Amino acid sequence: MISAAIVGGTGYTGIELIRLLSAHPEVSIDLLTSRSEAGTRADEIFPSLRGISDIVFSDLGDETLATLQQCDVVFFATPHGVAMKQAEALTEAGVKVIDLAADFRLQSLADFEHWYQQAHACPELLRTAVYGLPEINREKLANALVVGNPGCYPTTAILGLKPIIDAQNQQAERLVESRIVIDAKSGVSGAGRQAKLALNYAETTDNFKAYSVEGHRHLPEIEQGVAQLLESQFSHRIRFLPHLVPMIRGMLSSIHLELTEAGAAIDWQQVFGTSYAAEPFIDVMPRGVYPDTRSVRASNRLRIGIYQDNERAELTVIVVQDNLVKGAAGQAVQNMNVMFGFDETLGLNFAPIVP
Ligand SMILES: NC(=O)c1ccc[n+]([C@@H]2O[C@H](COP(=O)([O-])OP(=O)(O)OC[C@H]3O[C@@H](n4cnc5c(N)ncnc54)[C@H](OP(=O)(O)O)[C@@H]3O)[C@@H](O)[C@H]2O)c1
Repeated sequence: MISAAIVGGTGYTGIELIRLLSAHPEVSIDLLTSRSEAGTRADEIFPSLRGISDIVFSDLGDETLATLQQCDVVFFATPHGVAMKQAEALTEAGVKVIDLAADFRLQSLADFEHWYQQAHACPELLRTAVYGLPEINREKLANALVVGNPGCYPTTAILGLKPIIDAQNQQAERLVESRIVIDAKSGVSGAGRQAKLALNYAETTDNFKAYSVEGHRHLPEIEQGVAQLLESQFSHRIRFLPHLVPMIRGMLSSIHLELTEAGAAIDWQQVFGTSYAAEPFIDVMPRGVYPDTRSVRASNRLRIGIYQDNERAELTVIVVQDNLVKGAAGQAVQNMNVMFGFDETLGLNFAPIVP
């Protein structure tokens, strides 16, 4: 049994971590923090936790830091810039850190400063941090002290592109042209549990819009994923455009690629099927079947559908996930399982909720 703490337990990914870790047979949640709700029982704020957890929120003060240092793992379900201020003190005490924010995702300090508008507090620790996509970084995660849990959109984009980039590298020739278009949609919980006018019910319901049209923070993460994580031998120009859709959970990314002559000779349905056959949380849909977001709701699964049109030289990869689970808290628990040598699916192997 390991001892876990969650910093930022009043947010959407925080409560999702409580839900998942409470059911995990090898984890005890020993500390849960909130600055606004310190002293309050979590199940008073979230009645869904009644009978599941009797934990009380603690403030994130100096005393709490001492308690955090006694845990085996600390999850930061906080905004960007919080984990990097605590991570050194924790890792020096031998505590593993999993940050759901972006402090340990981008290896380029210039990119981090540009996109997150702050200097990095611990660049040396950043260099040792592992990007938390188990499907790619399983071996590195097993020895990681600090994990940068991926952004929700990059999880769909990088896993949606992996079989293509891998095949291209293996054949050492371009199978898709350089331009990649990622047209992505997210439910409103992707923006967290904050009170903002743009996230009000009347603003988001019965409405559908593109946002961050001129540049989204997840673009450099996707670019890093293709160039460094997938080690693409070929350069790619990526256009990533996110949209907000009127639903609570769920994310769908349509990835559009143009096939080269060599790429059109490949059966991509078969390539994706083979590539992910052994992955417990990735499901490649049968030929001609495309996934919807409710087929993954509240689960750690990510489903992929493939459409190939050789006459038009088109390949479309459709990826769905629950942004709060495989896109955040579930992936963090999957990473924790790998880091502590547990079965990777422990505490995560349950069916999605339908309807
Ligand atoms: N929502 C998603 O789908 C999703 C997906 C992937 C990644 N993420 C990332 O995961 C992180 C958490 O997201 P979320 O959606 O759960 O956010 P959220 O709902 O806004 O919750 C943020 C939490 O952090 C705490 N907090 C805020 N500022 C803090 C500070 N300076 N120090 C300590 N605690 C602080 C808040 O509680 P108090 O104010 O009470 O302290 C709250 O519990 C973010 O970095 C987000 O980008 C989110």
